[in-house]
Amino acid sequence: MEMNTYQHIVSRLRDAGCVFAEDEARMLISAAKESVDLAGMVEQRALGYPLEHVIGWMAFYGLRIEVDPGVFIPRPRTEFLVRRAAEMAKSGSIVVDLCCGSGALGAALAATIEGIELYAVDIDPAAVQCARRNITAAGGEVFEGDLFEPLPARLRNKVDILLANVPYVPTGAIELLPSEARIHEARLALDGGVDGLDVQRRVALEAPQWLAPGGHLLVEVSERQAPQAVEIFACSGLIPTVSRLDDLDATVIIGTRPGLTRNVCSGSVWEKDSLG
Ligand SMILES: C[S@@+](CC[C@H](N)C(=O)[O-])C[C@H]1O[C@@H](n2cnc3c(N)ncnc32)[C@H](O)[C@@H]1O
Repeated sequence: MEMNTYQHIVSRLRDAGCVFAEDEARMLISAAKESVDLAGMVEQRALGYPLEHVIGWMAFYGLRIEVDPGVFIPRPRTEFLVRRAAEMAKSGSIVVDLCCGSGALGAALAATIEGIELYAVDIDPAAVQCARRNITAAGGEVFEGDLFEPLPARLRNKVDILLANVPYVPTGAIELLPSEARIHEARLALDGGVDGLDVQRRVALEAPQWLAPGGHLLVEVSERQAPQAVEIFACSGLIPTVSRLDDLDATVIIGTRPGLTRNVCSGSVWEKDSLG
């Protein structure tokens, strides 16, 4: 690569407001197959398309995850959710990545824990297509549809780890997101309803029918949403635990299906035989 090509790209990106122009220029150059590709990619980036969509991949949990245009770009903070899941999974665990987007979470867990049985679901056909490339390589299967609906019925009461990084941005906060998310990621991937927890309510309600006794549901929330998410989990018969990593500004709620159902909703505690 000629030095003045590099310098030209850096100044084009800088003029367009890219903060990490040098790093991005290097990534664009190495991603482009021909100079004509490179010029187009630089223009796309300068017009505000996310770098990950332009080069077609991102680094997540040490893996190269393919990310297609319009598909949610996995956030670095979500590596914490994967890390917590990896502490609980073992070889042979049945894992479902619900609302999988690119499939980054499931792919990362499969790369970390050998021998898991992996299934993933998303409602967006573009995400499903993308996840198939990331997850099939890891031996997983991807289904298209609404939450649990497309999963094989034989997985009921069998899921050991349910990863569910679902949309959790409150509708009113979407307009405050950076334009890269607001414009270039599907609204369906972001919008969690008035308080951001609508999809989580649906997931928590149905999760006990799919989790094995002792199985875990893991979701990500904002720190502010955590108390409400804990209440939602408890009302669904899951035992909630909050995990927080300040460095990544990551909050994960883990809901465990007990052998004995404990309902702590509205302060009441009662026990009965296991669900299902
Ligand atoms: C916040 S993104 C997260 C994607 C991925 N889990 C990650 O962390 O990179 C949420 C994803 O949920 C999907 N989604 C939204 N509603 C859904 C539903 N009812 N059923 C299945 N997937 C849904 C969206 O298409 C999007 O890919």
